[in-house]
Amino acid sequence: MLLHLLLIVLVILVTRKLIPWYLTFRAFRQKVDLIPGPNGWPILGNVPELIQKLKKGEMTRLLFKEYPEKYGPIFRFWTAFVPRIGLCSARHAEPLLSSTKLIKKSIDYDLTRDWLGDGLLLSSGLKWKTRRRLLTPAFHFTILENFIPIFVKCTERFVKVLEGKMVGQKFFDIYPLTSLASLDAICECAMGVEVEAQCSEESEYVKAVKRASVIANARSVQPWYYSDFVFYLSATGREQKKLLRMLHDFTRKIIEQRREEFRNKEVDDETTSRKPVFLDLLLSKDLELSDSDIQEEVDTFMFEGHDTTGAGIAWCLYELGRHPEIQEKAFEEIQSVLAKYDGKIDSRSLSEMKYLEACIKETQRIRPSVPVVVREATEDFQSGEYVVPKGAQVSVLIMSIHMDPEFYPDPEKYNPERFFSGEQVKRHPYSFIPFSAGPRNCIGQRFAMLETKTTIALFLNKFIVRSKEPISAIKPQAELILKPDIGLFIEVIQRD
Ligand code: HEM
Repeated sequence: MLLHLLLIVLVILVTRKLIPWYLTFRAFRQKVDLIPGPNGWPILGNVPELIQKLKKGEMTRLLFKEYPEKYGPIFRFWTAFVPRIGLCSARHAEPLLSSTKLIKKSIDYDLTRDWLGDGLLLSSGLKWKTRRRLLTPAFHFTILENFIPIFVKCTERFVKVLEGKMVGQKFFDIYPLTSLASLDAICECAMGVEVEAQCSEESEYVKAVKRASVIANARSVQPWYYSDFVFYLSATGREQKKLLRMLHDFTRKIIEQRREEFRNKEVDDETTSRKPVFLDLLLSKDLELSDSDIQEEVDTFMFEGHDTTGAGIAWCLYELGRHPEIQEKAFEEIQSVLAKYDGKIDSRSLSEMKYLEACIKETQRIRPSVPVVVREATEDFQSGEYVVPKGAQVSVLIMSIHMDPEFYPDPEKYNPERFFSGEQVKRHPYSFIPFSAGPRNCIGQRFAMLETKTTIALFLNKFIVRSKEPISAIKPQAELILKPDIGLFIEVIQRD
C-alpha cells in the first residue's frame, strides 16, 4: 500500500515537475549552445576542466586567452546547469555595457554579498538607481580635489617605508606595499581615519581582505558551494565567516567613531574647517541612510577602493621598471611640471602630467586591476551575430578586450604612446574599459586616477625602479582583482 502511494507520488512528480522542467531547460540549452564553446560533461558541464585548470593556476589563461582564441569573441561554457557567456571584443560587449536595463550583477557577486551587503556594487533595480544618484555628487571634482593632500601624505609615508626598509635591499615584492598605501588613502578619504596600515607590520584587515577574496573566487567555480547552507558548513565557509566578522567589525568601529566626531562637528560647525570625507556625506541627514545602509556602502568603498588601486599602482611601477627609457621620459615630465608649480602636487599639476597618465592607462590596458565584470541577462539581447538568452551569466572579459590586435597592434607590447599621441580617439569607445563602461561604470575612477598619479609621480621623483623578471614571466591571476602569481619583485634606487 505504502509502496503504491510512493509510486504514485513519484509518477506525479516526474510528469508534473521533472518533465516540464527538463523540456524548458532543453530548449534553453539549445539556444545557449548556438553560441560556440567547448563540449561539456552531462550535468557537470565544464566544471571538471575548470577545476583542473584552477588547481594548476591556469584558469585565467583558459578563459581569457585559450577559449577566445579557439571559439572567437563570443563563447559559452557551462558550470553545471548555469550557462556562462564570455564577451571578448568591444563590439560584442557594447550592447550589454551600454544598456540601462541589463544592469543586474551575476550570481557570482552573490558570493560576496555577505561581505559587501547590498551596496552600490551589488545592488540592482530601483535601489541601485537611487543610491547611484545620491552618491554621485560625492565624487564630484571639487570634492575629489580635497583628497589630493591625503594622497600626498600617504605617498610620503610610502616613500618613507621604502627608504627605511627597502633601499639598497635587493628585489622585493611591491604589491603588498602599494596595497597598504592604498588602504591608508581610502581609509582616510572614505572615513577620515588614519589607520597607518603601512606602518604596522602587516594589517589584519588587509590579510583578511586577501584571504576572503581567494575564498570567494574559488567558491565561484565550485557549484556545490553556491548554497550558503552547504558552504558555511565547510571548514572554508567557517573561515570565511570569521574573516567577514573581522572585516565588518573594522569598518563598523570606524563608522561609530566618525558618527561621534560628526555629532561634535555639528555642534561647533562654524569653527571647524575640516574637509568632508565620503562618510560625512553618507551621514548627512538629507540622504536619510540607516546605519546598515551606511555600513554596506562603506564596506563597498573600502573593498572597491583599495586593492584595485593598490594593484594598479604595483603593476604600473613594475612596467616602468621593465622599461627604463619610458620611466625616464615620465620622470622628466614630472620634474618639469613640478618645477613649474613649485613642487606642489595638486589638480593643476597632475592634469599636466599627460605622459604619466598614458603610462598608467597602458598598464591598465595590459593588466586591468578588475579583469572581468559579470552580469545576468535579464532579457534576450543581441551581441554581434548571436542572441544571448535571458538567464545566462555574461562575463565581459576586460583583459581580453584590451588585447584586441585590431585596436592595439602588437598587443603584448607596453607602449604608452598608444594613449599619448591622440591615437585613442580613433579606437572603438569600448576598446579600453578598465573602469567598465555605461551606466554601471566605476563611480570612483577619477578618484583612482588622482591617487595613482600622485603616488607614481612622487615615487618617480625620489626613486629609480628596476623590475626582476620580464612581465611575461608573471602569470596574472584573475581573482576578484588581477593579481600576480609570484608577486611583483622590484628594486628601488634613490635618485641623487
Ligand atoms: C584603479 C582602481 C579601480 C578600478 C580598476 C576600478 C574598476 C571598477 C570596475 C571595472 C567596476 C565595475 C564593476 C562591475 O560591473 O562589476 C567598478 C565599480 C565600482 N567601483 Fe571601481 N575601480 C577602481 C577604484 C575605485 C575606487 C577608488 C572606488 C571608491 C572610492 C571605487 C568604487 C566603485 C564602486 C562603488 C563601484 C560600483 C558602481 C556601480 O555599480 O554603480 N572604485 N570599479
